[in-house]
Amino acid sequence: MLAASLLSLLALTTATTAAQRPLVQQFVDNGQTYSGIDLPGSDQAYDAGLFTPLEEFSLLSTSEFTTLSHPLFPNYNVRIKKSDFCDGTVGAYTGYIDIQARHLFFYFFESRSNPDKDDVIFWTNGGPGCSSSLGLFMELGPCRVSSPDNSTFNPYSWNENANIFFIDQPIGVGFSYADYGETVSTTPEAAKDIAAFVAIFFEHFSKFKGRAFHMAGESYGGRYIPVFASEVYDQNARLVEAGLTPINLTSVMIGNGCTEWPTMTTSYYDMQCKPMSVAPVQEISSCIRMKQAIPRCEKMLKESCVDKFDSIGCEAAGLFCQSEISVPFYATGYNPYDISKLCEGAISDTLCYPVTKVISQYLDRPDVRSTIGVDPSITSNFSSCNYEVNAAFHAADDSMFPTQYYIAALLERGIRALIYVGANDWICNWVGNDRMTLGLEWTGQETFVSQPLKEWKVDGEIAGLTRNAGPLTFLTLDGAGHMVPFDKPKQSLEMVKRWLAGDKF
Ligand SMILES: *[C@@H]1O[C@H](CO)[C@@H](O)[C@H](O)[C@H]1NC(C)=O
Ligand SMILES: *[C@@H]1O[C@H](CO)[C@@H](O)[C@H](O)[C@H]1NC(C)=O
Ligand SMILES: *[C@@H]1O[C@H](CO)[C@@H](O)[C@H](O)[C@H]1NC(C)=O
Repeated sequence: MLAASLLSLLALTTATTAAQRPLVQQFVDNGQTYSGIDLPGSDQAYDAGLFTPLEEFSLLSTSEFTTLSHPLFPNYNVRIKKSDFCDGTVGAYTGYIDIQARHLFFYFFESRSNPDKDDVIFWTNGGPGCSSSLGLFMELGPCRVSSPDNSTFNPYSWNENANIFFIDQPIGVGFSYADYGETVSTTPEAAKDIAAFVAIFFEHFSKFKGRAFHMAGESYGGRYIPVFASEVYDQNARLVEAGLTPINLTSVMIGNGCTEWPTMTTSYYDMQCKPMSVAPVQEISSCIRMKQAIPRCEKMLKESCVDKFDSIGCEAAGLFCQSEISVPFYATGYNPYDISKLCEGAISDTLCYPVTKVISQYLDRPDVRSTIGVDPSITSNFSSCNYEVNAAFHAADDSMFPTQYYIAALLERGIRALIYVGANDWICNWVGNDRMTLGLEWTGQETFVSQPLKEWKVDGEIAGLTRNAGPLTFLTLDGAGHMVPFDKPKQSLEMVKRWLAGDKF
């Protein structure tokens, strides 16, 4: 979510922090084993008799954690408790999935409709380094934090028709932690923990087994989600081999994602100098200078980041584009997450939304920490975003990877993809996402590209534009910024309901 905030913010300091690690290194890293599940071969097939899954959440205690183990995953535990908070009408559960020395914090809310039948949604915010508590308490969760002392029921929460979890990831973010100071600095590495998390969750809470599963995220989630979903998809083969039920990965939903870096960079010009969603916010003189810089920016990005990856050249290209295109935008004082407004507060302090500070104050309350079971080893004040994690991802050039390839690969395997974009966002805007989806190379590309953008409606009113072919849908939401459910709760819930139901827009 705000995620991208940091994306840009830190991008401004890339010059000094960027490590000179070539992108190919990421492929190599990707081949290493981090903490992914090492499943035994089929000769040691899973003996269901050894293990009694916890069918019913309601058996859990509200006062203390229940620790669950599984014979097949000797190094993994789940610590979970009932946490009567936030929703009030459904079961709420929080805890950690302990992956050896890594501990990922999650919130889980049952569906308000039919928890025993409804789909399961996975949600992560972006950053990289931002906590999913932002999405939970500000956007799509069952409650919104309105003051440090109170939260209010959100009738448009995405758990209206789905079971949903919010996860603080990677380790180091929000209430997630690691025992020995381990850190994660690339998305493929984070994906190993997420895939383990998902497998362990479904294995323990067997009533959700086989349920349609949707992986959703925002902002830097445009990088995370395609990679996480691919990891879950590939892991399924290993689960089957070990005699386990595969995860029923059905779709990815990416909100205001930054997925393809070069097209997003050049779209920053269109968004500030043309009436793509609001009237131009940039001075003519600056736009002329920018227009002249664009061909060079594109050429440099293509040569050093796309055709081949040369980290020094690619970072230099990034800096050039940024100084010509992004720096003048920040000088306008407009909110990079919503160009219909000015930024409220300093971006490094509030992310332009003062409520982010209120959420932190709420999560600093000892009674709230006790209710949700934050590990006692975490004593520091809550940070919406961990800037060290953010800097580590930038140093690894993680954002420069051509993540759109993962989306194409998922489409080819029948996994549906919803790319939705609040139209007033600048940082991961609709123009860049439109170009990214049109450029996706997959068997349905020709059909998708031939479709016009057409209006979609909620209650008879135009909600935005959409284009679809087969499993791929691109969709905009008028009047929304980077955090769509924050600005357009009703339309965003309607979008999710239709998507889960498999309806067209
Ligand atoms: C919390 O918010 C609810 C709903 O807005 C309100 O009825 C209640 O009085 C508030 N409680 C406190 C302690 O402010
Ligand atoms: C996956 O979920 C879909 C949608 O609910 C369902 O139709 C399908 O049968 C499920 N697949 C499996 C293997 O359980
Ligand atoms: C934590 O937050 C409290 C309350 O806002 C503040 O007084 C304190 O200085 C903060 N501590 C640190 C280490 O920043």
